[in-house]
Amino acid sequence: MKTINIVISLVLIAVFVFSCSKDKDDITPYTSSGIANPTPTMVTVPNWISASIIGNMPHPQDNPLTIEGIALGRELFYENKLSGDNTMSCASCHFQEFNFSDSAQFSTGITGNTGDRQAMAITNLAWDDLFFWDGRAVSLEDQALGPVVNPIELNDTWLNVMSELQTDAKYPPLFQKAFGTQTIDSLLVVKAIAQFERSMVSFNSDYDKYFYGGITTALNASETNGFNLFFGAAECIHCHSGPLLSDPSFRNNGLDATFTDLGLGVVTGLATDNGKFKATSLRNIAESAPYMHDGRFVTLEEVVDHYNSGVVASSPNLDSEMNHFVGGLNLTTTEKADLVAFLHTFSDAGYLSNPDFSDPN
Ligand code: HEC
Ligand code: HEC
Repeated sequence: MKTINIVISLVLIAVFVFSCSKDKDDITPYTSSGIANPTPTMVTVPNWISASIIGNMPHPQDNPLTIEGIALGRELFYENKLSGDNTMSCASCHFQEFNFSDSAQFSTGITGNTGDRQAMAITNLAWDDLFFWDGRAVSLEDQALGPVVNPIELNDTWLNVMSELQTDAKYPPLFQKAFGTQTIDSLLVVKAIAQFERSMVSFNSDYDKYFYGGITTALNASETNGFNLFFGAAECIHCHSGPLLSDPSFRNNGLDATFTDLGLGVVTGLATDNGKFKATSLRNIAESAPYMHDGRFVTLEEVVDHYNSGVVASSPNLDSEMNHFVGGLNLTTTEKADLVAFLHTFSDAGYLSNPDFSDPN
């Protein structure tokens, strides 16, 4: 009996030592000025979104998810000190109840000016490679650098933001815990925000229960008909595909004959990219109105009307997957309503009210 106990103890010690050293390997030390010892963590997703379906959540080599990093990122996402007059934060345009987007067609920045693009949702972005409607940011870290200095958004300077955070008694200890240094710099600010954003996952909708969970009663008859249209005759699935309900690629879905906003073409300078925009995720889409890069559609009914009968055949660089829509889908009034009903099943009430993502103060 005694021998067995010793053996068990040895095994437990070995497991403990092994798991500790593995955790250490996963953490990259951030600075030489402090010891980074934050707690590695993983974001849990429901069983039916198994790793085999969606793949492991990727993250940059130098920015693994930690409990302290996510907590700091959440504080910073809601921090008004990120704006020039300390009145606005990321959350001033990305509201949780609206799927972390804005219900206004164009958000108003601190100077009262508006842009010409609709604020985008922040949901399941950990798996995306390019950000903004035109894809000009290559990581969430890169993306978060932009709004602070954008004159029509937070209109501040990073030097100013860093010094304000540095002199706020709350922040140096939080940076110490998350990154092992009390010295705040913009790269650590965006790393923390990106970690918080990666933690924002939504996979618990009626659609998930039906499609991945095999719970056939999760959708009613109208929603099921909409499901069949989405995957079938209406062919939405070509671009809003997989568990993310997004490729996510850049495509022209036939909104205009001439472009006032060139989209991806602004970034690449290629005429063949003009009019292409990010095919965004449809998760919680019922809460994300208005729709498209310029928020031109107020309701999902208008969106479905666009795909059913509004696709502009002469639109330059029209995506080849849109050929099917040219000339109209000829959906009946009931079918259009069923499709809209199905789009509502992408809503995940738990995500939209998850206290982990709300203002911590
Ligand atoms: C004044 C409103 C405003 C503020 C403040 C703001 N955003 Fe945005 N956000 C937008 C708009 C508008 C877009 C789309 C802009 C574009 O495509 O050019 C956007 C796009 C994004 C995207 C891209 C999503 C995707 O799918 O590619 C992310 C991520 C994001 N914002 C995060 C943030 C973070 C983090 C902050 C704070 C540091 C922030 N935003 C502050 C309005 C705002
Ligand atoms: C060829 C690819 C493609 C197909 C097929 C397609 N979409 Fe889209 N969808 C896009 C792109 C690209 C955008 C963004 C366009 C923009 O903003 O200019 C978009 C935007 C949307 C939006 C607004 C998203 C937002 O965040 O504002 C909704 C809703 C939508 N599509 C629903 C559908 C439905 C429903 C179908 C099927 C009837 C469908 N889509 C078929 C590519 C596609």
